[in-house]
Amino acid sequence: MHQHGHAHAHDEHTTWSSFELAGFLAGLTELPRTVLDVGCGAGGDAVYLAGRGMDVIGVDLSAESLEQARAHADRGGVDVTWIQASALDLPVEDASIDLVTDRGCLHHIEPIDHARYAQEVARVLRPGGMLLVRDMQHAGNDGPQVTEPGLGGMIDGLPLQLSRVVPFQQGRMSGILAVFRR
Ligand SMILES: C[S@@+](CC[C@H](N)C(=O)[O-])C[C@H]1O[C@@H](n2cnc3c(N)ncnc32)[C@H](O)[C@@H]1O
Repeated sequence: MHQHGHAHAHDEHTTWSSFELAGFLAGLTELPRTVLDVGCGAGGDAVYLAGRGMDVIGVDLSAESLEQARAHADRGGVDVTWIQASALDLPVEDASIDLVTDRGCLHHIEPIDHARYAQEVARVLRPGGMLLVRDMQHAGNDGPQVTEPGLGGMIDGLPLQLSRVVPFQQGRMSGILAVFRR
């Protein structure tokens, strides 16, 4: 697994702002109704989306993160369906999701499993649904984990199109935002 100075990186993750998620939603003509946040961690994005009225499922491998996410949703007074599972094997119905969001989960998935990840996303998205991926890391660390050619390659042969890739900078972190359409 990719390592990047975890104690420090964890602090940065918990303070990431979701400005890019709010910006993405602002550009849509219609808000999604069903959202799946893969690798939801402590639930920041999932709780935000539920607070905006969407039906949200948060999936993460970590029971500890999901416990934090539950507490976060309780504090926010919103309902989210939390599921402990892998993004590579989603216990979610085919074609049931309007938007899959991922902030920092694909980063943790081995490149050899990226096609499987994309296959699962394509399966749960309804036709016309979208995947929003964001990955961030310290500038000059050990090179990006998620790259445009990698993102293009992982959807080879799948009913997913890469519709937008935007590199961005947030403080000392550099990132990439990518939007796919089913
Ligand atoms: C960098 S954290 C990001 C958490 C959250 N999305 C955020 O932005 O704060 C990555 C998360 O992905 C989860 N994760 C890693 N591999 C996963 C997998 N195969 N399936 C589901 N979750 C995974 C980790 O447990 C962790 O909570």
